[in-house]
Amino acid sequence: MSAALITKFGLITVSDRASTGVYEDLGGPAILKYLESVVTTNFETETRIIPDDTGTIRDTIIELADQHGCCLIVTTGGTGPAVRDVTPEATEQACQKMMPGFGELMRGVSLQYVPTAILSRQTAGIRGASLVVNLPGNPKAIAECLDAVFPAIPYCVDLIDGPFIETNETRFKVFRPKAK
Ligand code: MTE
Repeated sequence: MSAALITKFGLITVSDRASTGVYEDLGGPAILKYLESVVTTNFETETRIIPDDTGTIRDTIIELADQHGCCLIVTTGGTGPAVRDVTPEATEQACQKMMPGFGELMRGVSLQYVPTAILSRQTAGIRGASLVVNLPGNPKAIAECLDAVFPAIPYCVDLIDGPFIETNETRFKVFRPKAK
C-alpha cells in the first residue's frame, strides 16, 4: 500500500475560448466539485486551462503526470469531431497504454442523457502511475460521465502503483476486488 504518497489530481480544461478568457471556465470547477463530493482521502489539485492544441495538451498531461505526480488527470473538452477537437489524440500521444473501456462506458451511459453522446471520442490511458480520463466539454457531462467510470478508478490507480483513493461509500461502492 502506498500510504505515503500524496494524492494529487490534475484538472485540465481544454478550450480555446476558456483559455483566452472569452468563456468562464466552468469545467475545471465542476470536476473539482465532483471529486470533493466523492473522494474522502485528502487530495491536492493541479489545474490548467489550455487551448485546443495537440502539443500543448500532450505536454500538459505529461507535466501533471511526471512533474506533479497526479495519479488521476481529468480533461474536459476537445473530444468531438470538429477540426480543433484533438484531446483524444493528445492523450494517446502522452500515454503508454490506452484504456478504451472508459470511453465506451461513458458514451454508453451518456446516451441516456443526450443523443449526441456518440459525437464524443473521449478515451482514457495510462502514463506511468497516472490515469488520464477525457470528458466532454459540457459541464453537465462531467458528473454524468464520472458517475459511470469512477467506481473503477481507485482500483485502476492501485494497479498502476498510485495512492490508495478512498471514496464516499454512500455515493457508490467502488470496485476493488483485492485490498492492496
Ligand atoms: N456526454 C454527456 N454525458 N453529456 C453531454 O452533454 N455532449 C455531447 C458529447 N457527449 C455530451 C456528451 C456533444 S454535443 C459533443 S459534440 C461531444 O460530447 C463532444 O464534446 P466536446 O467536443 O466538448 O468534448
